Amino acid sequence: MKKVNFGILGCGKMAELMTQEIKASKNAEVVAVASRNKENAKQFATSNEIESYHDDYLDLIKNPSVEVVYVTLPHTFHAQWSIEALKSKKAVLCEKPCTINTTELKEVLQTATQNNTFYAEALWTQYLPQFRKAKQWVLEGKIGKVVSVESEFNIEKEYEYNHRLYNPNIGGGALLDLGIYPAMAILEFLDSPDSMEVEMDFTKDGVDFETRVHAQHGDAKSILSCCINKNMDSTCTVIGTEGHIHFDGRFQENCHGYLYQNNKLVSKTDSYIGTYRFMIYEVSKCYLNGEIESKIHNHSKSKRLMLFLENIRKKKNFKYPSEQG
Ligand SMILES: NC(=O)c1ccc[n+]([C@@H]2O[C@H](COP(=O)([O-])OP(=O)(O)OC[C@H]3O[C@@H](n4cnc5c(N)ncnc54)[C@H](OP(=O)(O)O)[C@@H]3O)[C@@H](O)[C@H]2O)c1
Repeated sequence: MKKVNFGILGCGKMAELMTQEIKASKNAEVVAVASRNKENAKQFATSNEIESYHDDYLDLIKNPSVEVVYVTLPHTFHAQWSIEALKSKKAVLCEKPCTINTTELKEVLQTATQNNTFYAEALWTQYLPQFRKAKQWVLEGKIGKVVSVESEFNIEKEYEYNHRLYNPNIGGGALLDLGIYPAMAILEFLDSPDSMEVEMDFTKDGVDFETRVHAQHGDAKSILSCCINKNMDSTCTVIGTEGHIHFDGRFQENCHGYLYQNNKLVSKTDSYIGTYRFMIYEVSKCYLNGEIESKIHNHSKSKRLMLFLENIRKKKNFKYPSEQG
């Protein structure tokens, strides 16, 4: 099977994890990495046995061996570097959230279309077999009509101004980093909300450390919550008129999905090895087929999701420094 050549922008934690997963996948390979710092790039390339390294992100994009650029930088750089890569006709897999707002996303997607080049947001939960199975159960009517989705994602990270979770200048906060997963789960099973009530608690630097949203979607409703200062559950429950689906553990990772009808467990999804490799496989397959988006997490899903997140922030007039006046 032909392997697609990935180039990685940024040498952070996610770059490490994805490098291992790309190497373990059937149809992809990492051929280059870039860091702002030459020593970091060299060390990353050496320890991960990657043939090329660059100390300039643009040089990686221009590297003729690179077919897909994986953007794994802090949120405020996603739009800029996705656009640079797309303009050079390099396919892009960009970490979540694809941008920080809908204006940026519009420009990214226009650039992908104009250049007829593949673009996907790396929302890997969408590609997991158990999440897709849950979607199939719902489409088959196994839980009747969906009336409610409740989902949360919480972690505990000690305050550190320069950490990307806390720094407003690089898109910090719970909603864009963690809340995006519950938001995605809600939109997977319900229409976009008609109305919502939002509570947000902010750090002294002005990013949300906790967000709670109660939304109405026609006759159905949803509850979303996320925080970066308490290690609590991260679950997802989809409630229908004739049953419900519950994910145990961290729903956005590899866990089981359970289908209940009349409060009796009737089915359980399989468990799988690997996390990001389902997404890597799909992105590589789309690239080889000359597609510009994946059917699994397509451009319109990214747009709907970004609008949901933006509308939540608007309720509290929460803007990032780059969005102000
Ligand atoms: N899918 C998932 O499960 C998952 C999990 C965690 C994070 N993420 C996403 O992955 C992305 C990166 O997260 P991470 O945890 O890998 O972050 P990280 O460890 O902080 O790494 C980010 C990298 O971005 C580069 N960078 C460029 N400009 C920067 C700046 N001004 N400040 C800080 N770093 C800068 C740095 O690389 P160089 O210095 O080498 O250039 C840095 O190592 C985020 O979008 C995040 O939402 C996804």
